[in-house]
Amino acid sequence: MPLVELAGEDSAAEVARAYRGWARREARGRSAAYESLAESVAEDAALTEFVAGLPPGKRQPNLVFAAARYLLGTPPTVGPLRELVSQSRAELAQVILTRRTQTNEPARCAVLLPALAQLPPPLALIDVGASAGLTMLFDRYSYDYAGHRLAGRDPQAPTLRCEPRGPVPLPPHVPAITWRAGIDLNPLDVTSDDDVRWLSCLVWPGEGDRAQRLAAAIASARRDPPVVHRGDLLTGLPALAARAPADATLVVYHSSVLWYVAADQREQFASTVRGLNAAWLSSEPPGVVPGTSMPVPDDDQLCVVAHDGRPAALADSHGTWLQWLP
Ligand SMILES: C[S@@+](CC[C@H](N)C(=O)[O-])C[C@H]1O[C@@H](n2cnc3c(N)ncnc32)[C@H](O)[C@@H]1O
Repeated sequence: MPLVELAGEDSAAEVARAYRGWARREARGRSAAYESLAESVAEDAALTEFVAGLPPGKRQPNLVFAAARYLLGTPPTVGPLRELVSQSRAELAQVILTRRTQTNEPARCAVLLPALAQLPPPLALIDVGASAGLTMLFDRYSYDYAGHRLAGRDPQAPTLRCEPRGPVPLPPHVPAITWRAGIDLNPLDVTSDDDVRWLSCLVWPGEGDRAQRLAAAIASARRDPPVVHRGDLLTGLPALAARAPADATLVVYHSSVLWYVAADQREQFASTVRGLNAAWLSSEPPGVVPGTSMPVPDDDQLCVVAHDGRPAALADSHGTWLQWLP
């Protein structure tokens, strides 16, 4: 089978519509460069035809643009992307087909930390959908909640800045963590230069200090790499939970993961977690964790932080602000 099939006119038109929608809904206000690139792709017959020839689950702009960046070495603009598609089509398709969007944002620790600190220490953590494990290193990072500062164990790890919107129960220190493990369908390895390169390609141009924060978190993770097991969150959790020490509070948590999973499987996951003797924390878009639908503004960047499936806070999906619910 060819890597990329020939696309019909209808699917190319669909791609153009999807890229225009993504430019306006997701990239606007976050990355002017990618907003403009997605609009340009939508206008370009060769590019929409290329994208339409990819399998449906591989057509997202963030995946295609990250793959182009991986090959080009810099964030793509429309000219180099067109050139790549005409001259290195198979190579580009190969990266798209073999890689996934596995953005790992350490700052998501800052929105989970206040809920985590309310649990009885010491803690044993299972990060579900851990990617490279950067959201497992709560105690290595330092935190700055608009002047409320907490020091981490690794002075060279990044300081995560998170704006509390209204009163937030901020902890006096990071709780003791005695054990941690991650699980992911496709763990990324912080000690692999290739995986690190892919992680950095997933950051969008113009996203402030995300690239520096990622690099500092990876450098810290490399000094003592977190363990992320290969497995599916639907089946692998009970065996991993059984390895946790009995004398610590087991916490199963995930951020920006469950929305990758079909709705009926989210219910199945929720019932698996509820069957474990564990606290359950999540930061996912509204309604993704069963029972967390809320009347909130239509905002692709908004997440609901939930404790045992009950909404506790609203937060930015990249960890920049946190608002506790009454
Ligand atoms: C967007 S990344 C988020 C990574 C990390 N939780 C964070 O907040 O930075 C989503 C991760 O979920 C993983 N994932 C998706 N479906 C999964 C499944 N069924 N089982 C395990 N991991 C899964 C992906 O491989 C990916 O690494």
